[in-house]
Amino acid sequence: MKKILVTGGTGFIGSHTTVELQQKGYQVVIVDNLSNSSADVIDNITKITGQKPIFGKVDVSNKEQLFDFLKQNQGIESIIHFAASKAVGESVQVPLKYYRNNINGLINILEAMKEFKISNLVFSSSCTVYGQPEKLPVTEQSPIQPALSPYGNTKQINEEIIRDFVKVNPEIHAIALRYFNPVGAHPSSLIGELPLGVPANLIPYITQTAAGIRECLSVFGNDYDTPDGTPIRDYIDIIDLANAHIAAIKRMEDNKQKQSLEFFNIGTGNGLSVLELIKAFEEATGVKLNYKIVGRREGDIEKVWADTSFANKELGWKAVVPLKETMLNAWNWQKKVSGIK
Ligand code: UD1
Repeated sequence: MKKILVTGGTGFIGSHTTVELQQKGYQVVIVDNLSNSSADVIDNITKITGQKPIFGKVDVSNKEQLFDFLKQNQGIESIIHFAASKAVGESVQVPLKYYRNNINGLINILEAMKEFKISNLVFSSSCTVYGQPEKLPVTEQSPIQPALSPYGNTKQINEEIIRDFVKVNPEIHAIALRYFNPVGAHPSSLIGELPLGVPANLIPYITQTAAGIRECLSVFGNDYDTPDGTPIRDYIDIIDLANAHIAAIKRMEDNKQKQSLEFFNIGTGNGLSVLELIKAFEEATGVKLNYKIVGRREGDIEKVWADTSFANKELGWKAVVPLKETMLNAWNWQKKVSGIK
């Protein structure tokens, strides 16, 4: 069994990726500092797959902790590095937390790859690096725009750090996956997204409103240059997203890379407006949502969706989960969390 380290493996994307990896025969080792997740996730992953991942409560931004853990867990061939702070708004308020966690974390991971002879890295990047692209859909060649937040800046800086690092370490290979908007939950309703406090992202806000936890969803602006005036995003199902990581790992294992660092857009290729997404949720679940149009949210981009042809061709991967299923899974997860029958 190939051993793979998943940092941030109890988080939303990390937990779903762990499940898919285990189901495809990998032995998963998770490190997570549990700053935004709980160790219960490990039990729920085990319930789904019948296999308990190895787990260490480790903060990857602490080099000593990380190295001590890796000394005890040798034989890892690849790393998928999710562990990072990710709240865009908070990153504006406390930028140093983001620079410290996200940049130190990556540097420690890269140093660990050298020290413990780990060859392959998948890095969680974001479509935020493109800002508002001039041409849509956005390809991987689209120019990187100045970041709109410290969070976005850490993604850009980290891509550059990896680029410089692999240049002088030819034994190390890396793939940066630029995610569009990850949504949904595992069909078992055993794992899903668990935002702390008031959700900043659209889908958790929708499901919490439907569950009666929030009174009303605010739609941030309907005066954008889009068909219905609300912003357009590319919402990608979490299982599809998880599987993109496995395709990336396989590409490196099979030495199919054309460059030692490659970038892939991970989205569906379809743009949906906020109102279209609300409608899709209502149709899939039969639940009517209470929402109102309010002013724009500062820093929001008008429209972005992915050109996924490079990922489709080179990774042999594509998004396949129907939107209706994604919405139902997100809703079933919310019902489970809220104890709604
Ligand atoms: C943001 C980040 C992105 C990050 C992602 C997931 C930016 C530019 N992008 O994406 O880097 O990876 O979160 O954490 O900050 N909306 C509402 N009402 C709400 C919430 C959202 O109308 O209560 C709208 C927003 O205006 C936006 C869309 O829903 O048009 C999606 O918002 P959100 O889920 O927060 O994701 P992004 O802003 O696209």
